Amino acid sequence: MDTPALSRRDALKVSALAAAALALPWRGTLSAKSASRIASSKLPTPYTVPFWTPPVLPPVSSTATADYYRITQSAFVGEILPGFKTPLWGYNGSVPGPTIKARRGRQTVMRQINQLPAKHPTLGYVPWTSTHLHGMPSKPQYDGYAGDNSMPGQWKDYVYPNSCEARTLWYHDHGVHHTAENVYMGLAAQYHLTDAVEEQLPIPKGRYDVPLTISDAAFAETGALLWDDNTHSGVYGDVILVNGRPWPTMQVEQRKYRFRVLNASVARGYTLRLSNGQPFQVIATDGGLMATPQAVTKLRIGMAERYEIVIDFAAIGKGLKIQLLNDGVKNATDYDHTGKVMQFQVTGPATSTVNNTVPPVLAAPHPAMTLTPAMSTATRKMRLQRTGQIWTINGETWDDVEGSDFSRVFANPQVGDVEIWEVENRSGGWFHPLHIHLVDFQVLTRNGAPPPAQERGPKDVVYIGENETVRLIMRFGPEHGRYMIHCHNLSHEDHDMMTQFQVGLHDAECDPVNAARPSYDPAPALGGLR
Ligand code: C2O
Ligand code: CU
Ligand code: CU
Repeated sequence: MDTPALSRRDALKVSALAAAALALPWRGTLSAKSASRIASSKLPTPYTVPFWTPPVLPPVSSTATADYYRITQSAFVGEILPGFKTPLWGYNGSVPGPTIKARRGRQTVMRQINQLPAKHPTLGYVPWTSTHLHGMPSKPQYDGYAGDNSMPGQWKDYVYPNSCEARTLWYHDHGVHHTAENVYMGLAAQYHLTDAVEEQLPIPKGRYDVPLTISDAAFAETGALLWDDNTHSGVYGDVILVNGRPWPTMQVEQRKYRFRVLNASVARGYTLRLSNGQPFQVIATDGGLMATPQAVTKLRIGMAERYEIVIDFAAIGKGLKIQLLNDGVKNATDYDHTGKVMQFQVTGPATSTVNNTVPPVLAAPHPAMTLTPAMSTATRKMRLQRTGQIWTINGETWDDVEGSDFSRVFANPQVGDVEIWEVENRSGGWFHPLHIHLVDFQVLTRNGAPPPAQERGPKDVVYIGENETVRLIMRFGPEHGRYMIHCHNLSHEDHDMMTQFQVGLHDAECDPVNAARPSYDPAPALGGLR
C-alpha cells in the first residue's frame, strides 16, 4: 500500500488538537444550516485543525532530459474530520495528491496506475479514469481526453513536454461522465513548473511558497463523503477544505508568503479576502506570471482557476491571527461556515528574509498578453446554456462529439492562428467557468469593459458569470490535434457541457482515443527502474 493521506503521527496530532479544542471554552460550532448529516457539534470548529501541505513527489528516476514518476490511484480511508473515517480515492494515497515540481525544458513522464475498486462504494459506477494535466500544452493522447479511459487494473504513461512558461498547474481526473465524483473523492493535485525567469525573481520560494488547494465537501453520518449534485447543478459542501483539511490554521512568520491558490471544488466559486481588509498582490494567473503585480483586496476564483498571491504578514503582531474569508459568489449555496476558509497565526519575526520582495515588473508580457484583435483571423461565438436537463455549448454536448466518432469540432484553426472567441451566458441562474485545453488566452473584455485587475494575466479558465459576455483572444499551438472545451463546474462538464476543437490536422499519431492506449499488461521499467 502507499503512504496513507494522514500518517499515523499526523492523525494523532489531529486528534490531540481536537481533544485540546474540546477542553477550551466553547467558541461556537456549526449550526443547523448545513449539508452534512453529522451532528453539527461533531464537525470541527473552524480554525482548530492544523494546516498541512501535500508531500512533494520525488521522481523514481531521472535522465539528462526527463523525470519519471509513478502514481497509483487507489482507495484508502483517511481522517478529514477529526474522529471520523472517510473513504477516499487518492493519488499515491494522498488527498490532495502529491505535488510535482518540474522545470521548463525537461520532460515529465508520469505513469498513472488505476488500482481503484471495480465500483464506486456508494454510487456503483465503474471508475475509469483519464488523467489531465491542466495548464500543460500536452499532445492530445496525453491530455486526459474524455474518450481515453483507463479501467481499474490498467496503467498508462503520460508524457508532458513542460514546454510552456512557469506556472501553477494541476493534475486531476477527467474520466468521461464521472469527473465530478472522481475529483470529489480526491483525485486532484498541484504541479509546479518553474523556469529561468521565475527562478531569478526575488519572490517567496521554498517553504514560503505554499499550495492552497481549496475545495468543499459534505459528509454522511459515517464520515463518508456525501454526494448530491442537485440534478447535475453541482455539489455544495458545508465544510471548506484547504489541502484536504477543514478550515485549518497555518503558522506564519512576519514576512511575505506566496500562495498558489487553486479552486478544486466541483461547483463552488469563492470571493476571497483577508479579515483585516489588508490588500494582497496577485502575481500570476493560470498561464503564469503577470507582467506587473496587481494589488487587490478581494479575489474571485471560479473552479479550476489558479491565482498566485503574495500576502505580507510583516506588520501583523506576534501571536495575532487573521482569517482568509469567502464572501461567496452568486448561485453558490452558502452554509453557516462556508464564509470561512482558513486562518493564519503569526509566530514572530521571519527566520529568513531572502526572497521577500515583489518587484514592480515580474516578467516580459506572456505571449498571450501580446495578442491584439488585429491579429485575429476569426471571431466565434459560444453560448453556454441549459437545454432541458442538459448543459450545452451552442446546443451541443459531448454526446454529439462521441456520436460523430470524435470527429465533430467547434473550430479548426491552423497551428499559429489567432482567434477571438466570444462566450456568452444568458442565464441569471448559473455561472460557468469555461476551460479551453491546450492554449493560454487573454481576456479582452468582460461585458464590453476591460477585465478587472486580477484577470490581466494569461488564463486557461474564465469565469463566465450570470448574464455575462466575455471576449477571449488566443493563438493555437504548439501542438496539433483535438482538444476539449468545457465548463469546469464538473457536474456541468459530465452532463454534458463539453465540446472540442481541432488545431491543424488530426492524424493517427495524435489520436487521443487510439494512440498511446492504456494497458493491462505488466508495466515495463520506468526510465530504467522498476
Ligand atoms: Cu481541469 Cu478539461 O480540465
Ligand atoms: Cu485543462
Ligand atoms: Cu457550467
